[in-house]
Amino acid sequence: MKDINIGGAKSVDYSRTTITELMIPSYANFGGKIHGGILLSLMDKVAYACASKHSGAYCVTVSVDNVDFLQPVEVGDLVSMLASVNYVGNSSMVIGIKVIAENVKTGIVKHTNTSYVTMVAKDEDGNLETVPPLLLKSSTDVRRFTESIKRRKLKKDLSQAMDEEKNRFNLDAEIKLLNNQRCELKLD
Ligand SMILES: CC(C)(COP(=O)(O)OP(=O)(O)OC[C@H]1O[C@@H](n2cnc3c(N)ncnc32)[C@H](O)[C@@H]1OP(=O)(O)O)[C@@H](O)C(=O)NCCC(=O)NCCS
Repeated sequence: MKDINIGGAKSVDYSRTTITELMIPSYANFGGKIHGGILLSLMDKVAYACASKHSGAYCVTVSVDNVDFLQPVEVGDLVSMLASVNYVGNSSMVIGIKVIAENVKTGIVKHTNTSYVTMVAKDEDGNLETVPPLLLKSSTDVRRFTESIKRRKLKKDLSQAMDEEKNRFNLDAEIKLLNNQRCELKLD
């Protein structure tokens, strides 16, 4: 297998970050489940920690992809966010975050979501800063990196397709799509 060497790369392990937090009652809604926003905030924090460690720079959040909470998180659960750099561009980094919630009494561990946060590094004047390349040392590192490339392309294609849809908007044609939908139509 041929190595690729561009110099100055940092390994995935160098910035791998985990935070664990106890879910307390003030984080919950009236039904006793943890607010999604609490988890989003923790995801943002761990993404920042991971991205700033990799880049050695101040970072800002650009986008959060694939946030589907598959299982509820309860008060008393220990939530862990396992974050690692999946992809590096010029100034951007994609941080993959696996979120798990553990019930400490039963030992049951739930995988609630895996999401991808794009962060960019900025210098003190707010200009974009080039970040170190990523050293890929395992097939998992390679898979995550190439998945990020594909995810970015799909996102760009989707965004372009939706822009085209918006430009093509035709009321009569769209109304046909409303058949069998749970809506009422009362146009002025
Ligand atoms: C994100 C931001 C830097 C993009 O600025 P821009 O002038 O459009 O610059 P670019 O187009 O060169 O994009 C910069 C990088 O962000 C990436 N990027 C931009 N928009 C993106 C998006 N929607 N999703 C993923 N990556 C994105 C680009 O791919 C590029 O990556 P690269 O440097 O690795 O090639 C700018 O919009 C910004 O500063 N936003 C505010 C971010 C912030 O403050 N977040 C905190 C929450 S309030």
